[in-house]
Amino acid sequence: MNVSLKAKKKNVNGPTTEEVISVTHWTDFLFSFRITRPKGFRFRSGEFVMLGLEVDGKPLMRAYSIASPNWDEELEFFSIKVPYGPLTSKLQLIKAGDKVMLGKKPVGTLVLDAITPAKNLYLFSTGTGFAPFASIIRDPETYDKFDKVIVTHTCREAAELEYSIQTINDLREHEFLGELVEDRLYYYDSVTREPYKRQGRITSLIENNDLFDTLGLPNFNPDTDRAMICGSTAMTNDTKRLLEAAGLEEGANASPAEFVIEKAFVG
Ligand code: A2P
Repeated sequence: MNVSLKAKKKNVNGPTTEEVISVTHWTDFLFSFRITRPKGFRFRSGEFVMLGLEVDGKPLMRAYSIASPNWDEELEFFSIKVPYGPLTSKLQLIKAGDKVMLGKKPVGTLVLDAITPAKNLYLFSTGTGFAPFASIIRDPETYDKFDKVIVTHTCREAAELEYSIQTINDLREHEFLGELVEDRLYYYDSVTREPYKRQGRITSLIENNDLFDTLGLPNFNPDTDRAMICGSTAMTNDTKRLLEAAGLEEGANASPAEFVIEKAFVG
């Protein structure tokens, strides 16, 4: 078969091969990395995409939230490392210059289009569930649509918060976005399994009013508040129940409403 015929047989909807630009290891179980963004790769901040490696000649791909905002020239991801996980056991070894495979169709419900306009946007995350919110909080459109953006991140141990803390600090110091987010972006972190300045699950901190007291905001109100949730199934279910109890309704791309949910993906 000649080369041009081979090229024609290539799956045009199949993944593209991208280059790893940088990798940061945050803990023994968490890392983030940046890769090249193909020309024409469009996504809405908060969406996820298939990402992976070629293993034994075949693509091994998992869903990953894109952590970079849609204006960024590169793509950023935040991942767990599962010691014997089929993909993450290998993906955690990548370094600058290595190749990864990237799907062509970003999708997802954690997008501004899936919620109706209001005053405050709450983004609730645990673990790697912070990834889509790292994208949304760095998108100027978020601040066009909402006065205040509150992002919460809860992990078992304090070291697991480093990625979100660094992302927030960089954003506050960003040459153009720093001013935009000043006084409008609130970061609320907590830890559940070791001593920390703020301890407890986000659900408990909502129920005991610590979240509202700390931020100086009133309790949830469907007239003013919208929310997105990303974490384990148990966390998303429990947080959803609290929002529903306050009168907020779940939305989707096709029927925008007051809050949306996505499970955090594991490798
Ligand atoms: P906890 O340590 O009390 O289980 P995981 O790694 O299991 O996904 O947990 C990440 C974070 O989410 C942990 O801080 C964990 O708290 C918290 N979490 C787990 N289940 C829930 C839940 N049902 N509601 C709220 N937070 C939860």
